[in-house]
Amino acid sequence: MLGRLSSALARRSRTSQLRFGPPTASLSPSFSSVPQPLTPGPVSPSARPRGAFRPRPRLAAAASQSSRTYPSPLHRPIPGPMASTANKSNDPSSLSNISEIRVTHSDFELDVNLDKKVIEGYVKLDAVCEVDAPTRLLLDTRDLTIHAVEALPRGSGGQGGQQAAVDAAAAKAVPLPFRFEEPHKVLGSALVVDLPAPGGSSGSSPLGPLTRGSVLSIGVRFTTSPSSSAVQFLAPAQTHGGTHPYLFTQCQAIHARSLVPCQDSPGAKMSYTAVVRVPQPLTALMSAVPREQHPGEGAGLPHLSDVQPPYPTNVFSFVQKVPIPPYLLALAVGELAGVDVGPRTRVWSEPGMVAAGAHEFADTAKFLEAGEAIAGEYVWGRYDLLLLPPSFPYGGMENPCLTFVTPTLLAGDRSLTNVVAHEIAHSWTGNLVTNASWEHFWLNEGFTVFLERKILGRLHGAPTFGFHAAQGAVKLAAEVERLGADNPYTRLVPDLSGGVDPDDVFSSIPYEKGFYFLYYLQELVGGPAAFDPFLAAYISAHRHATLTSDQFRKFFEAYFKDVPASRSVDWDTWFFAPGMPPVTNSYDTSLAQQAYDLAMRWHTCDVMGIGSDGPPGASPADVSGWSSEQMVAFLDKLGQFRAPQPMHSRVTKKLAEMYGIYESNNAEIRFSFFKLAIPAEDDSALPAAAAMLRNQGRMKFLRPLYRALHRSRGGRALAEETFAAAGPSYHPIARKMVAADLGLPEPVVAAV
Ligand code: BES
Ligand code: ZN
Repeated sequence: MLGRLSSALARRSRTSQLRFGPPTASLSPSFSSVPQPLTPGPVSPSARPRGAFRPRPRLAAAASQSSRTYPSPLHRPIPGPMASTANKSNDPSSLSNISEIRVTHSDFELDVNLDKKVIEGYVKLDAVCEVDAPTRLLLDTRDLTIHAVEALPRGSGGQGGQQAAVDAAAAKAVPLPFRFEEPHKVLGSALVVDLPAPGGSSGSSPLGPLTRGSVLSIGVRFTTSPSSSAVQFLAPAQTHGGTHPYLFTQCQAIHARSLVPCQDSPGAKMSYTAVVRVPQPLTALMSAVPREQHPGEGAGLPHLSDVQPPYPTNVFSFVQKVPIPPYLLALAVGELAGVDVGPRTRVWSEPGMVAAGAHEFADTAKFLEAGEAIAGEYVWGRYDLLLLPPSFPYGGMENPCLTFVTPTLLAGDRSLTNVVAHEIAHSWTGNLVTNASWEHFWLNEGFTVFLERKILGRLHGAPTFGFHAAQGAVKLAAEVERLGADNPYTRLVPDLSGGVDPDDVFSSIPYEKGFYFLYYLQELVGGPAAFDPFLAAYISAHRHATLTSDQFRKFFEAYFKDVPASRSVDWDTWFFAPGMPPVTNSYDTSLAQQAYDLAMRWHTCDVMGIGSDGPPGASPADVSGWSSEQMVAFLDKLGQFRAPQPMHSRVTKKLAEMYGIYESNNAEIRFSFFKLAIPAEDDSALPAAAAMLRNQGRMKFLRPLYRALHRSRGGRALAEETFAAAGPSYHPIARKMVAADLGLPEPVVAAV
């Protein structure tokens, strides 16, 4: 198996065509490059001392109202950010007030400026009052400059469409006072929009009387910062084609607020429409269905008339009809081409990679059909894939209608496409049925891993399900070992109160402990025959909604009330106890057993110090005909056996040589091997490990490899050098996380 992988892809990776070299131009860390507003008045929380401004509208329509005076922000005392989260929403990661007023639709106009690394934007937010007479709308923001806020009359706007409606609305727009609360280090700054009282001193409110159930529309003109944590701007040299810049966003978990003003809580589900202007010849894609342009309709950006790009542009238009949480907003801009690989699937990427992507992801339609058979109707219309440049920090991201994937999946043999099955599974668990807050993240990820494995099992048989489940258990044990069995972040339901950053808590725990729990529940109530209908019922009952772990418990208990065994679940231990789960699952290991047996032979040989030839009788034939997944299973199981102590470097060297590890183009195989070889102080692995850190930016690989290198004697300096050189090319989130892991400062990104 090893060394036989697709030669074209292997060649590409060996010749570093992915061009993940040092950037020729990159992000400015400071705010200074934010374009100066055309008129005074824009406000960004970090640039302005609190209370030191009077917002002045700069929207064309609002300007006619500008004689109006605004109350000073100091007229009303503003509680500190954490105090103010109490009772506003049950989401400790949002400063918005969704329990009082909730955004249900956003209509965006976005102008993407790749030179200045900013997005100029206007959003019309449609909201519904959850209580009588709400006094203010609180929106999450981080690193955004807000230029103006305006109240739009009822019924205004045509969901991004009709010019006439926009004009009519703009004519009657009324500027609203706004201010920021004190910035919170992790959560950002709540943008406070005071809602006019009906019939107050300024006459009747354009919003009309606000009672529970009333709807209102608010317009916000904003600009992102070049240091937005949601956006990575890539210089041409960081792309495959090398000639055009590129941009992509990553909003999960709490980065949407650095892209657009929004209620950045999973509970604030909204539909959206967008028009996006980009320089020619680039293409924009979003987590939505592209809309056909009709001449004269919806193609303009009427609220961004102050932004006039000095180059030719293209405008793209999108609609997302299904309400989505803001963390699923996504945008990518670049030189993009697409190839259809199924009736509702197109693989997009830079032109030079699209054929490889289309080959790798050819099974997507089958995954989708299997997902529908298990979980019900696919409601999103399209399922396209965007193959990103190598700095994409995740394996995949389930942006609706347009999953984002890392090019590290391009093994050539479709062996890593379980990631696509996973992202497809999110179409039901996560995107349709959503965790109420990031404390209940396992409801997204644990369920999605469960569904991913059910999809793979349906397509390839029960032993495949068992194989992946067993692999997951190895991963879970390794993660608990790494974090420590009493680490509170090994709880299935962690406590994120007090503004804990969900990125800091991210681990395999919600994935694998979540899966482990669901498998346990399945077996408890009678296996798949009983659990599969439950899964479908759970999805159908919670679609378009969010839920907490406790709501899941209640649903499960009610559904299985006639199954006595269901009463034996120790919910509190499962949810709140740290460490390994309270029960031990057993899986069908028929496919994994060979790999585990081989791992045991190498483990024994290493422990016994038998020598440099590997286990008695070992030969390349041990792994001939193996899938790359079996190879990974072997290496990871060996890692589990050797967890207490590193291996001997002569044994890792022998293993690499015997099984052709360095010839493999499979990123997972290399990664699993490096996790053994680096702690073993196997110097021959260091150049290849460092190359992996330089030519891709997926955190799953970066973080463990950097940590291992930095802990090792022979790799410490290499880790620091490599991070200093490659760090500026990483995605902002990856850069931050690696710096935190290593206790190093973030490498400075050169100014544009
Ligand atoms: N939604 C996640 C990625 C994510 C999680 C982004 C948290 C930001 C914050 C995605 O579905 C995912 O889990 N991707 C995995 C795939 C794997 C589990 C098959 C990945 O990136 O490796
Ligand atoms: Zn996921």
